[in-house]
Amino acid sequence: MLMRFLMACGLCLALALVGVLGVAGFIPSLFWPDRGLGTDGYVPNPENGAYLFRVGGCASCHTAPGKGAKPLAGGRVLKTVFGNISVPNITPDREAGIGAWSAEDFLRAMRLGLSPSGRHYYPAFPYNSYTNMSRDDLLDIWTHLKTIAPVADKAPTVTLDFPFNIRAGLGLWKLLFLVEGEGKLARNQDEGAARGAYLVKGPGHCAECHTPRNALGGWKYSRWLSGSDGGPNPVPGIAPARGRGLKGWNASDISFALKTGMLPDGDSVGSEMATVVDKNLSKLTDEDAAAMAAYLLSARR
Ligand code: HEC
Ligand code: HEC
Repeated sequence: MLMRFLMACGLCLALALVGVLGVAGFIPSLFWPDRGLGTDGYVPNPENGAYLFRVGGCASCHTAPGKGAKPLAGGRVLKTVFGNISVPNITPDREAGIGAWSAEDFLRAMRLGLSPSGRHYYPAFPYNSYTNMSRDDLLDIWTHLKTIAPVADKAPTVTLDFPFNIRAGLGLWKLLFLVEGEGKLARNQDEGAARGAYLVKGPGHCAECHTPRNALGGWKYSRWLSGSDGGPNPVPGIAPARGRGLKGWNASDISFALKTGMLPDGDSVGSEMATVVDKNLSKLTDEDAAAMAAYLLSARR
């Protein structure tokens, strides 16, 4: 009797949850697509696009592991708090990739986490970070993506388990946790640190791993870049101004570590950070590596 009562309650709760998520998810997909993400006055800078594409790590996630994998053709499966999720093909193939997209479609995906048809993306795609990038930098990445060889293989899709397979629920998540658009990046900072803040929070997407998350997967802003031991690998803090990590490091220790993976004690970074350095950061300009170091040394948020 009691069991049946509890099961009925559980079912009601689950249905109510799906209802709330569904409604909340639907509202943003109604008004998010039309936020005036136009391309007026854009002047392409392909070199900048290639550079930020690299710092942004697009290829590290969107290329399958192993030798001979076709660049950006997808096929990796990421483990996330929501379950396993597959990474799509973002080559310019019109069917299998994003070759049929407009520049506005691309901006909407990177800024708002929305597909051209208004579906919500999972935040495993780090749009929570990329949303901080300027329109022109994003469009430069778009310009670069169009130079990649199209690959006609559709990446396999992994479907998440219920209830996380209901993408509408992500609308609620985004209402709670997505802070959209540029700005709010560099309060009270000199020019170098401001550029560093931009790179760390935007293309570098450092917070995706280095900021701990709450039970719903949103960032704990009060512990910005403070590291986390929640995930499969412990991630160290990189916010020395708050006494969280990089103790005793100076600016050149940091910029050297970002470009080479070498730590001040002569050891080198391991696990996911080794890939981040190798694929994303190793070609940072000296100025940008120094700017990131300046920001990290002063970073409160
Ligand atoms: C940490 C891994 C990761 C990184 C880094 C990453 N992505 Fe993705 N991306 C994903 C995942 C996962 C999805 C699929 C999300 C979903 O299905 O909801 C995705 C989806 C996309 C989509 C939508 C594709 C479609 O078919 O709907 C675009 C466009 C995209 N990413 C572009 C980029 C660009 C450009 C960069 C680099 C600036 C980048 N991504 C970096 C993981 C990543
Ligand atoms: C995919 C997850 C991920 C991303 C993205 C990432 N890191 Fe890391 N980072 C790690 C992990 C994990 C470690 C610990 C590596 C180890 O165990 O050797 C680490 C280590 C470091 C260290 C060395 C700290 C120490 O005390 O040894 C620095 C510095 C660092 N990261 C800076 C950054 C910066 C700056 C960015 C953004 C450009 C960034 N990381 C992006 C996962 C990540």
